[in-house]
Amino acid sequence: MEGLSHRDYGRIVFFTGAGMSAESGVPTYRGRGGIWDSYRWEEYACQRAFERDPDKVLKFHELRRKAVLACEPHAGHRVIAALQKARPGVRIVTQNIDGMHQRAGATDVIELHGSLWRVRCEEHGVRQDVGEAYRETRCPACGRHLRPDIVWFEDSLDRFTIEEAVRAIRAADLFISIGTSGVVWPAAGFPRFAKEGGALCVEINPEANEMSPLYDISIREPAGKALPRLFTDL
Ligand code: APR
Repeated sequence: MEGLSHRDYGRIVFFTGAGMSAESGVPTYRGRGGIWDSYRWEEYACQRAFERDPDKVLKFHELRRKAVLACEPHAGHRVIAALQKARPGVRIVTQNIDGMHQRAGATDVIELHGSLWRVRCEEHGVRQDVGEAYRETRCPACGRHLRPDIVWFEDSLDRFTIEEAVRAIRAADLFISIGTSGVVWPAAGFPRFAKEGGALCVEINPEANEMSPLYDISIREPAGKALPRLFTDL
């Protein structure tokens, strides 16, 4: 695949999934070695599990933050962040909760599934940033356990976040999806919005999936290799 010139596009959306971070060493969810292979989500990643045993669930997420901190953003993250810094009209929509785009220097990231780096009180909705360890595990106002501010199984996504993502994607003239298996809704439907909006749709994923036929261009390479080759005019 020849490189693209970002100058030919007014509105670019990068849409990323677990494969983007996998190359930095953050485990994916599905497939061999995926998180849900080793941990049953019913025990670690849903509100019911949290209510049953908050400490167990909080500990699991602390371990995940530790694992993420041991990883570094790769060349693909840096290309996206540099492009966003260099010009307006570049949006990042991610299913990832690990904050890797921000660590590479991106400042505007639509996080569909929330962030590992925040907790919130269900009662007060107040959000708090966390580092590797929790500063406190209970809400100072009501004493309830603070829960990770992420979208767990059986949770609904934040309506305003979805609307913002869909707006950005419909308006895009270049849509680049990276490292997502396209099976988790509603994000799995996003490529179709890009297509309907008339964007050139590019997929970067070493493996094809159900959504692949929708794309104009499929690059069967890892993100860290494909992105620097795609944008050589940064
Ligand atoms: N570069 C690009 N793609 C890659 C790479 C890489 N280096 N390595 C793996 N991939 C691809 C895999 O081929 C796979 O298609 O990344 C994809 C990862 O798929 P999933 O693990 O299903 O991740 P994702 O699509 O982000 O999952 C969506 O599911 O459990 C939930 O909330 C969780 O956000 C997550 C959501």
